[in-house]
Amino acid sequence: MSKKKQPLKTGEKVLVSIVVVFIVLAAISYVILETVRMNSDKPLFETKTSFDFTAEGAKGSKIFREARCTSCHRALRNGTNMGLSLDGVGSARSYDWIYSFLKDPEKTYDSKTLDHGAAPKEAAYVAKLPDEDLQAMARFISQLKAEQGSSSAPMPPKGRSEFIDSMVKAWAPKDWKERYEDVRDKPVQSTTEEQ
Ligand code: HEC
Repeated sequence: MSKKKQPLKTGEKVLVSIVVVFIVLAAISYVILETVRMNSDKPLFETKTSFDFTAEGAKGSKIFREARCTSCHRALRNGTNMGLSLDGVGSARSYDWIYSFLKDPEKTYDSKTLDHGAAPKEAAYVAKLPDEDLQAMARFISQLKAEQGSSSAPMPPKGRSEFIDSMVKAWAPKDWKERYEDVRDKPVQSTTEEQ
């Protein structure tokens, strides 16, 4: 007995054509996006995080990768997006804070720690690394800076943002200003404005 190939039913034909159209459109958009990106001299997204390493910072960056920090952290395009990004941390934390955190996380963090701290926490090994390595990594992390307004910066973008205003209006409880300080009202700290 020979099985005859059945022709597609109308409904199946429509479904297959829709899927094919989607795939073709996705491929075309990808090619257009990549072509624009490669030929444009402006970056697609503005980069607002930066680094400026001293010799010790550069050494710390190497140790950071070798010490498996990248399995939970992201810094300078290295590492995973699942964990905590350390880009820009240097604008919020000092070298001393970072070093003290690596050495004694539970005491330094203002809240309970998840992974850093005493065994059996997963990053318990970090505090036991050689002191020299911890210092180099703290130097590296303290040199990861974020410009004001970047997602990793401690300060929101300059000027009023309608988006932030509407989010605050929608989500913050009415009396939040009585209990918290609005960082947007603070004078901007910048090195050029310091006397
Ligand atoms: C198993 C996952 C994991 C590994 C591995 C890990 N970390 Fe972390 N790290 C975390 C988590 C989670 C936090 C938030 C604090 C906590 O709950 O432990 C954190 C917080 C930090 C912070 C503080 C950031 C801040 O501003 O609050 C620094 C600095 C840091 N890690 C550096 C490192 C370095 C350097 C290494 C490698 C030697 C490393 N971490 C390895 C998970 C990890």
